Amino acid sequence: MEVKKIYTLSNGVEIPGIGFGTWQAKDGETAVNCVKAALEAGYRHIDTATLYKNEASVGKAIAECGLKREDVFVTSKLWNSKRGYDKTMAAFETTMETMGLDYLDLYLIHWPATPHRFDNWKEINLDTWKAITELYKAGRIRAIGVSNFLPHHLEPLMQTEVQPMIDQIEYHPGYLQQETVDYCQANGIVVEAWSPLGNGQVLSNEFLATIAEKYGKSVAQICIRFAVQNGIIPLPKSVTPSRIASNLDVYNFEISDEDMKAIAAMEQTGFSGWNPDEVDF
Ligand code: A2P
Repeated sequence: MEVKKIYTLSNGVEIPGIGFGTWQAKDGETAVNCVKAALEAGYRHIDTATLYKNEASVGKAIAECGLKREDVFVTSKLWNSKRGYDKTMAAFETTMETMGLDYLDLYLIHWPATPHRFDNWKEINLDTWKAITELYKAGRIRAIGVSNFLPHHLEPLMQTEVQPMIDQIEYHPGYLQQETVDYCQANGIVVEAWSPLGNGQVLSNEFLATIAEKYGKSVAQICIRFAVQNGIIPLPKSVTPSRIASNLDVYNFEISDEDMKAIAAMEQTGFSGWNPDEVDF
């Protein structure tokens, strides 16, 4: 399969095929500097969320980096305490103010409301989605989607006027959520991978180390290239400039079909433990 450096979403909007993750990038100098380092290294896609508490720093880095706003694809996410129509509308405005932006490229529902916590979970998600859809139609957001939605959470949203263009899920060697990936790819939803390095936990995996050695690459590059070759947009996070640059340098080699299969067959490794149908947030 030919790898895509840029994907076209179902509404025609283009999104760079690797994004820079900022979860756990501490607000202030650390977050500002790592986002600047990423933009300098060539990333044009930055992923944050209200939960990460670094939206202001991400916005500052984008404002100060010297690139035009339209040259950077910017994502943020609605936190769980802001579900529902009115709260979503207000939360979006807060995000825009905090980031100092007048539009977002992508806005995601961070986690689904789920049956184990809410009897009316479908209604909650649909109300939230209605607000996000209106913001999209008003031109405030270029593309809209969800995060951590499993197929049964996506189903009701697929029946609405505007369907999600992205689902951002945990995805890395050792935790592939293949059913969700298959559902999304069959329904025109592009999958993004959060923690494509298993939040660093899969980097010490011995099997991946042998694969990395064979290709003369780092384990991180193998993980990122693995997502890329599977048609998924990885969002590696690092605050270390050399790692930030090397994580983007994955377009000059190819993992063989055989090795792709072997990586896919790895036993569960590095799972965060956050099953959307079980988490208590
Ligand atoms: P740091 O930010 O200190 O550089 P994920 O994106 O899967 O959530 O993983 C993020 C974690 O992986 C962070 O702890 C980050 O550390 C670490 N990390 C990111 N890139 C690399 C790399 N190329 N080599 C080693 N560790 C990395």
